[in-house]
Amino acid sequence: MPQPILQARSISKQFDSGATPVLAVEHIDLDVAPGEFLCIAGPSGCGKSTLLQMLGGLTPPDSGQVLLNGAPLTEPSPEISVVFQKPNLMPWRTVTDNILLPLQIAGVPAAEARRRAEQTLALVGLSDFAGAYPQELSGGMEQRIAVARALIQQPRILLLDEPFAALDALTRERLNDELLHLWRRRKLTAVMVTHNIREAVFLADRVLVLSPRPGTISAEFPIDLPRPRPPGVQYSQKFGALAYQIRQAITE
Ligand SMILES: Nc1ncnc2c1ncn2[C@@H]1O[C@H](COP(=O)(O)OP(=O)(O)O)[C@@H](O)[C@H]1O
Ligand SMILES: [Mg+2]
Repeated sequence: MPQPILQARSISKQFDSGATPVLAVEHIDLDVAPGEFLCIAGPSGCGKSTLLQMLGGLTPPDSGQVLLNGAPLTEPSPEISVVFQKPNLMPWRTVTDNILLPLQIAGVPAAEARRRAEQTLALVGLSDFAGAYPQELSGGMEQRIAVARALIQQPRILLLDEPFAALDALTRERLNDELLHLWRRRKLTAVMVTHNIREAVFLADRVLVLSPRPGTISAEFPIDLPRPRPPGVQYSQKFGALAYQIRQAITE
């Protein structure tokens, strides 16, 4: 592997807020290559979201380190954007004003910010909805806006936490397809956590399987399906075999 863009070195995280401490993630080591699409699969509650938040510099590990381009990551970086399961759009802001938010916070001049908002909306196919409010959008459109809000910062790394889990199967399939296009076009590095095995196989170059809590990496599967993924690849024998192997590796 070339110099990894993102690394976890034996990171662990425990939550002490409840009656009994919860060890969410234990000694995870992983390397993400530049341009890779990595999926992390595992049962509900195994620590996937906690892991992703540590990889994004949003939550500090209790022990171990996250490295971005070889340097310790101790706070959110403009090189990394995160897309969550809930779109978290502000209902009183238009679509454009929602995706402009990160640029406004970063102090990007208004004209430049507007130009980038237009470009990014076109990228996710929602130029016609620039002036709409979130409540006028479908769930799939809202998630596209959430993706746009992440991309407008022009990150090199996109972290995704089950971004399409709440959507119906067809919309989800379509958004996964679009996500792969964006990943290729923007030469992004992507790390996505999901409990959906077929989604992981469809998207990833490599799938890591997490054990039940505390999450540790229990298996790794390279996905050597062709790129771009051909139409109908989900229904091929090879795809089915990979999904089945991964399913066998996941314990609940
Ligand atoms: N902020 C928090 N405070 C206390 N416990 C938490 C917090 N976040 C997650 N947990 C606990 O850590 C464990 C892993 O959670 P999470 O990372 O959300 O799992 P997953 O995303 O795989 O479903 C769960 O038992 C959850 O209840
Ligand atoms: Mg989660």
